[in-house]
Amino acid sequence: MNILVIGSGGREHALVWKIKQSPLVKKIYAIPGNVGIAQIAECVPGNVEDLDFLADFATKQKIDLTVVGPELPLVTGIVDQFQSLGLKVFGPSKRAAQLEGSKIFAKAMMQKFGVPTGAFETFTEGEKAKAYAIESEYPLVIKADGLAAGKGVVIVQSAEEAVSVLNDFFNKKIFGDAGTKVVIEEYLEGPEVSILALTDGKIVIPLASSQDHKRVNDGDLGPNTGGMGAYSPYPLLLDADIKALVKQTVEPIVYGMGENGIPFRGILYAGLMLTEHGPKVLEYNVRLGDPETEAVLPRMKSDIVPLLLACAEGNLKTDRCEWHENAAMTVVLASGGYPGTFEKGIEIFGLQEAENSGAVVFHAGTSKNTSGKIVTAGGRVLAVTASGETLLDAREKVYAAVSKISFRGMHYRRDIGYQILGVPSNR
Ligand code: AMP
Ligand code: GLY
Repeated sequence: MNILVIGSGGREHALVWKIKQSPLVKKIYAIPGNVGIAQIAECVPGNVEDLDFLADFATKQKIDLTVVGPELPLVTGIVDQFQSLGLKVFGPSKRAAQLEGSKIFAKAMMQKFGVPTGAFETFTEGEKAKAYAIESEYPLVIKADGLAAGKGVVIVQSAEEAVSVLNDFFNKKIFGDAGTKVVIEEYLEGPEVSILALTDGKIVIPLASSQDHKRVNDGDLGPNTGGMGAYSPYPLLLDADIKALVKQTVEPIVYGMGENGIPFRGILYAGLMLTEHGPKVLEYNVRLGDPETEAVLPRMKSDIVPLLLACAEGNLKTDRCEWHENAAMTVVLASGGYPGTFEKGIEIFGLQEAENSGAVVFHAGTSKNTSGKIVTAGGRVLAVTASGETLLDAREKVYAAVSKISFRGMHYRRDIGYQILGVPSNR
C-alpha cells in the first residue's frame, strides 16, 4: 500500500514510524513532514490546509490510505473531499469534526447523548457573557467556541479578569470569529486523563491510557502548552476503568451521532477530569493527541495499518488492539521562550547519541539549514520516547537520552510522571 500522512509534528513522526513497521506498506509519503520523518518516508512540501493540493497529490500518487494528523484539515472537510473522489482517508467528516471545531456543538452532543460534563452556558453576545460572568462564582472557565491553537481556554479567578478575557474575545477578536461565541463553564478539579479510541462509527476500540502534561514548568506551573510530555499506561486506570470511561464518554457520542446521520470515524479523544462527582468531559478532540501519541504508539503490538484502513472503510472486524505489557514515557524538548515567542534555526546536538541510548527521538519542530545541519524550527522541537518494563525504567531511560541532546535555549520538564512516580530526586 501507498500511505500518505498529513502533518509535521511529533505525532505524525510517531504515526509514520509505526506505519512503517507494517508489512502491508510499500511507500509512505508525508506532507509536509519534518527532518525526522524524512529519514523514514518521502516528505513533500505543501500546506495541510490546501485540500485541493492534498487530494490531487493522493490521486496522482495512487495513495491507498491517507492518515490525517492535525485537526485543522479535518474541521475544514478533508475527509468529505477525499471521499467524494473515491480516496480512502482516516478521520471524521467535516460535520463530525465539529466535536473539536466547535465547543458549543460538542456541548450540545454531550447533552443530547447523556455524557457527563461541567455545567455551562453559551453566549454569542459579549455583553450578555460579561453580565453572566459578573454574577458567577470563581474560578470560572471561559472557552472560545472555535479552534484557537490550544489557547482558547482561560481559567479566570475574578470578575475583572473574566471581563478582560471576554473583551479580548468579543471586542479585540484575538481569535477572530472562533472567539465571538463562547462557552462559560464551571471550574472542575481532579486528575486529568485522556481517553482515546479508534472507531469505524460502529465499533469502538480504546487505545492504551496515557497522561499528558500541559503546563510548561515542573509541578504543573506556568502557562499551558501543546503538551510537554506524556506516559503510558496511566496506572491509576485499570483496563476495566478505561472500558467504563469509554462507555460513558466515547460510545454515547459515536453511537448517538451515527444514529443522527453524522457517523464518526477516526480517533475520538475525550479530555476528562476525574472529579469527586465522577468523570466529566472537558473537551473532545477528533485526532490523536500530541505528545500522547509518541508515548502510546510504541506500546501498540498490533499492526496499525489494517486498523486505520478498516476505520476509514467503516468495516472494523475486531474490537481489539494488542498492547505490549510495558510502559513508555515521552519528554518534549522545547525552544527557549516557548510557549511564548522563540528563536528558530538553532543547531541541535546529540540526536544520534540519544538514539544510541535506546530511545526514539521523534521530531516535532526541526528543519535542515543550508549547511545541512539539523536546527530548531518550532516551539516543541523534539519528543523523546523510551520504553521500559515499568514506568520507572522508562523514566530512567528517557531522561538519560534527553541528557545527550542539547540546543541553545532548550528547556523541558524534569518531572514527567511525577503524579505517579514522585519527583525525581536527582534532577
Ligand atoms: P480544553 O482545551 O477544553 O481541554 O482545556 C484546556 C485545559 O484547560 C484542560 O486540559 C484543563 O486543564 C483546563 N480546563 C478546561 N476546562 C476546565 C474546567 N471546566 N475546569 C478546570 N479546568 C479546565
Ligand atoms: N496533548 C493535547 C492535545 O493533543 O490536544
